[in-house]
Amino acid sequence: MTPSPDPRVVVLVGASSGIGRATAHRLARRGDALVLASRSRAVLEIVARECEALAPPGRPGAHVVPTDVADRAAVEALLCSAVDRFGRVDAVMVSAAVVAYGRFTEVPGDVFDQAMKVNLLGTANVARAALELFGAAGGGHLVVVGSLLGRITTPWMSSYVAGKWGVHGLARTLQQEVRRMPGVHVSLVAPGSVDTPVYSQAGSYAGRVGRPPPPVVRPEAVARTIAHVLDRPRRMVSVGRFTPVMAAAFRLLPSLFDALVTPLMSVLGLSRRNVEANSGNVWAPTPAGEAVHGRWGRQWLRAPLVVAATVPAAVALRELLRRS
Ligand SMILES: NC(=O)c1ccc[n+]([C@@H]2O[C@H](COP(=O)([O-])OP(=O)(O)OC[C@H]3O[C@@H](n4cnc5c(N)ncnc54)[C@H](OP(=O)(O)O)[C@@H]3O)[C@@H](O)[C@H]2O)c1
Repeated sequence: MTPSPDPRVVVLVGASSGIGRATAHRLARRGDALVLASRSRAVLEIVARECEALAPPGRPGAHVVPTDVADRAAVEALLCSAVDRFGRVDAVMVSAAVVAYGRFTEVPGDVFDQAMKVNLLGTANVARAALELFGAAGGGHLVVVGSLLGRITTPWMSSYVAGKWGVHGLARTLQQEVRRMPGVHVSLVAPGSVDTPVYSQAGSYAGRVGRPPPPVVRPEAVARTIAHVLDRPRRMVSVGRFTPVMAAAFRLLPSLFDALVTPLMSVLGLSRRNVEANSGNVWAPTPAGEAVHGRWGRQWLRAPLVVAATVPAAVALRELLRRS
């Protein structure tokens, strides 16, 4: 990858894990100046060192600013700190999110509220601070990470779904509003299932640990899309081959969708692993669980491999028995 001539200054909110961390690595490789934010300072410092090791020689190091997106003043201070460090901000990407599994009435009200504060109001805090800065500077690009679950619904994830529908509505509204702000852009990236730690970090009141329904893409694929979008603003980009199919099925066949979604989610979206009711990382970070990848990509791969290996063997055995 050829480094860009003038380092672009990009603030990544949610940089310590999953998609945000994979994006930090990708942008570091092309020489962007990065400001890394999330709640856990210790992990952000590790990510900063990873980025510095990946960056072309002579490029500025990554700047770490621990920030809770639910705290509006902290988000404003994050952008001020970015400007102090690098002189300007060209783009802000927000991928901070938490999940609490469980039916709506099983999830405690304060956990639901906190998930909304992070996923929807946290995104709004970042968007407000970014657009104020871009308005004053005469340009800039806000990239919001939404989800397939901002376009469809599923049981057991009400706070996440409600938050993501809000995020999509907010991003689309902002796209209309920034039309009068020359040089300012808002893009929305909406992935399907991605193999990140978000599932094991999540709270659960469903009695079982959540997992990503297949097909699952790698966080690097989403990071690649985000990097392309940073170069060329887009209204909405889906990631994952089945994402548009699922969105169309939800819109065009609602009765069939509603009949299938609960059994499918029970089998594919919740693992067999039982768990006591817990709030996961909703209130505070759990740094030990933060990484680029989750543990689901290979696990889902195992099923087709087993089928691929056993089906021909079973056919051969049946043929053998038939002939004997
Ligand atoms: N994984 C998927 O299947 C999938 C699918 C569709 C969309 N997405 C979206 O992709 C984005 C990234 O998710 P991911 O899968 O990469 O999750 P992840 O690995 O759990 O990363 C989430 C990031 O958000 C940060 N974060 C959480 N709460 C925060 C808060 N209050 N303030 C600041 N930062 C906070 C976390 O760091 P700290 O905990 O240290 O703060 C972490 O850096 C999210 O918007 C998610 O909704 C994910």
